[in-house]
Amino acid sequence: MSAQRYIIEGGHRLEGKIGIHGAKNSILPIMAATVLTGDRCVLKNCPRLSDARAAIEILRYLGCEAQQRGDVTTVDSSKMSRCDILDSLMREMRSSIVFLGAMIARCGSACLSSPGGCELGPRPIDIHIAALRKMNVSIIERGGFLFCEAPKGIKGADIALSFPSVGATENILLAGCTAWGETTITNAAREPEIVDLAEFLNRCGARISGAGESVIRIDGVPELHGCEYRVIPDRIETVTYMAAAAVTGGHLELTGAEPGHLAAVLPIFEEAGCDVKVRGGVIELSADERLKSMHLIRTTPYPGFPTDAQAPVMAAAAVARGTTVFVETIFENRYRHAAELARLGADIKTESRVAIVEGVERLEGAPVRCTDLRGGAAITVAALSAWGISEVSGIHHIERGYESFEKNLAGIGARIEKL
Ligand code: EPZ
Repeated sequence: MSAQRYIIEGGHRLEGKIGIHGAKNSILPIMAATVLTGDRCVLKNCPRLSDARAAIEILRYLGCEAQQRGDVTTVDSSKMSRCDILDSLMREMRSSIVFLGAMIARCGSACLSSPGGCELGPRPIDIHIAALRKMNVSIIERGGFLFCEAPKGIKGADIALSFPSVGATENILLAGCTAWGETTITNAAREPEIVDLAEFLNRCGARISGAGESVIRIDGVPELHGCEYRVIPDRIETVTYMAAAAVTGGHLELTGAEPGHLAAVLPIFEEAGCDVKVRGGVIELSADERLKSMHLIRTTPYPGFPTDAQAPVMAAAAVARGTTVFVETIFENRYRHAAELARLGADIKTESRVAIVEGVERLEGAPVRCTDLRGGAAITVAALSAWGISEVSGIHHIERGYESFEKNLAGIGARIEKL
C-alpha cells in the first residue's frame, strides 16, 4: 500500500462548489452484472476509484475487455473465458463477492476465495450462500475457497432474507435474472444502489419488479444483452462533503447530487444548525454558527440513516455543542475512527455498538492514521476543522471510495496537500 499521506492545515472555512461523482456501491455490482450479458455495455458517470480499477482487473482476468476512460467504463464480456477470481484480487476488494451470482449464472460454476473479514469486522456471507443454495447452486466451502456449481442451471426460488443484506440482495438479483422460473426476495435491501442495479439489468432485458421495496420479484429470461447506462450519484460522498463544510463553518454547493437518497440525513444537518437548501440535483449547505449536537443517530438499513455516513457525521458531532449518541446497528466494529479522532482532541466513548460524543470547542492538529474507507474520510474531515497541522497517513483507504478527494477539498479552500 502506498505510504501517501495528506498534510492539512485546518481551521479554514470551506466555500465553493463540488460536483458529486457516480456511486461506488452502484458501479461495483453493475460491473459484475455486465458479465451476464455476454455483450458490450457502456457505463457512464463512473467514479475514478481504486475499487473500480480492482473490478476492471477482475473483469479482465475473467477474459472480458474492460477499460475506463474518464467517467465512461466500457465492458465487453462476450469473450469471457474463466469463472474463478484470484485470491489476491478477492483480498484486494472483499465486495468482489458480488461477482459470485453473475459468474455462476454465466458459466454454470464459480470458484473464489471466501472474502474474509475487513476492518469493519467479520464480513460473513452466510446469507448469500443460503440464498444461492435455495436456487439450486451447490456450494462447497473448503480451505478458504468457495466451489460453486449449478449443473442443471440456476432455479428461481422464494427467498426470505434474515437481514436485508445489500450484497446478498445483489447476488440473488444477478443469479435470478436468467434463472429457470421466478424468484422472489422477501426482506430485500432497499438501498438506491439496489434500484440502480435492477434498472441496469432491466435495460439489459431482465424482468425485475419491486426493486427499492422489501419484496422483489424476478422473472427469469433466457438471456440478457448489452446496454448503455448512467449510474446514480454517490450519496455517501455527498454526506462527506456536507460534513466537511459543516465542521469548518463553510458554505458549499454540491451539484449532480440526488437529495432524495438522503432523506434520513439532511434533517440531521438541519438539527445541527446548518442551513440546507435543495434545488433539483443541487444541495446547498451553510453553517454559520458552531454546530449543535444531533442528539441520537441510529444507523439502520435504507431508508434509515446509512451506516456509511456514521463516521463522517461523527466528525461533525465531535466539534458540536453538546452530546451526540450513535448506535451502529449494521456493523459490529465500525468505530475504529473514534480513537484517531480522539488524537485530534475529540471526546468519544465507545462501548460495543454505542458511541457517546461530547462535542469540544475545537480540535488540535496531530498525526493520525486512516483505519478504513469511511473512517479515513471522517478523520480527514475532522483534521480540516482542527487548528494547526495534521498529517493523515494510510490514505489509500480513502482513495478506494473518493475520487480526487484532496483536490476537491483544496478547490473549496482547504489547505490540504497529498505527499
Ligand atoms: C454494502 O456492503 C456496502 N458495500 C457497504 O459500504 C455498506 O456499508 C453496506 O452495504 C451496508 O449498507 C458495497 O456496496 C460494495 P450487507 P455489504 O451485506 O453488502 C451482515 C462502504 O463504505 N451480513 O448489507 O457487505 C454483515 O456482517 C461500504 O462503501 C451477514 O451477517 O453489506 C453486516 O453486519 C462499507 N451475512 C450487515 O449484514 C451475510 O451473508 C450488512 O451487510 C451478509 C451480511
